[in-house]
Amino acid sequence: MKNHTVGRAGYPDRDGHVSLDASIMDDQWRCGAVAALEHIAHPISVARRVLEKTPHVMLVGAGALQFALEQGFPREELLTPESDAAWKAWLKTQTYKPIANSEMSTYGHVPNSKLPGDVHNHDTLGILALDQQGRLSGACTTSGMAWKMRGRVGDSPIIGAGLYVDGEIGAATSTGVGEEVIRNSGSFLVVELMRQGLSPQRACEEAVMRIVRRRPETAKSLQVGFLALSRQGAVGAFAIQKGFVYARCDQNSVDQIIPAKSAFL
Ligand code: GLY
Repeated sequence: MKNHTVGRAGYPDRDGHVSLDASIMDDQWRCGAVAALEHIAHPISVARRVLEKTPHVMLVGAGALQFALEQGFPREELLTPESDAAWKAWLKTQTYKPIANSEMSTYGHVPNSKLPGDVHNHDTLGILALDQQGRLSGACTTSGMAWKMRGRVGDSPIIGAGLYVDGEIGAATSTGVGEEVIRNSGSFLVVELMRQGLSPQRACEEAVMRIVRRRPETAKSLQVGFLALSRQGAVGAFAIQKGFVYARCDQNSVDQIIPAKSAFL
């Protein structure tokens, strides 16, 4: 398990608990989400069950786990020996510097660090889809910030922050430091900018630049990225820092890996 930012093997919070966030939404404003869910390897599948089987949008913590177990998902230990070792190494310094999918971090290792526990990397998996009938949908899932406070919830499970789908306009999802995305209702903002006539690319750029303009000093060491897809199939992506890449596939190509443009080069 080399990916420490989603699901099994995700880095834990500062007390050693792996807790997961996920959301899913379709073009009919149907949505489901789970937050601070422990012991379930695929939180996005539980989020889908929330959408399909409950009158609610979001379940959190113990209630989300109870629902997942009732739905037949197996209870698992998600903290792998490797993640456990990284957490124990982090405990020696306990410095909290969230670094999210930028060139400042390379899949779990802070460059030039001498500390085995200095792995603050964080990432998010966001997916946007458009089917042959023109129906949009999206999903977003993460283990959140490594070494976060217990109970911390990021943007990924929050409809309008980490994910938003408007069947008439387009869809957006985000990655990076969730607190900054929540402050701006980031994915909703991207879709609303598209409604006003901006292309997905320009909408992602404007949403990112609002964060940069509001917090110019913080933004220099912060990563936030947005990915957007219009109902017509146009794609946009933009991030504060270099290093945000996305994969695109359609009927003509599979998994083209494309680096997003960024505010800081
Ligand atoms: N972007 C995911 C998080 O902050 O948890």
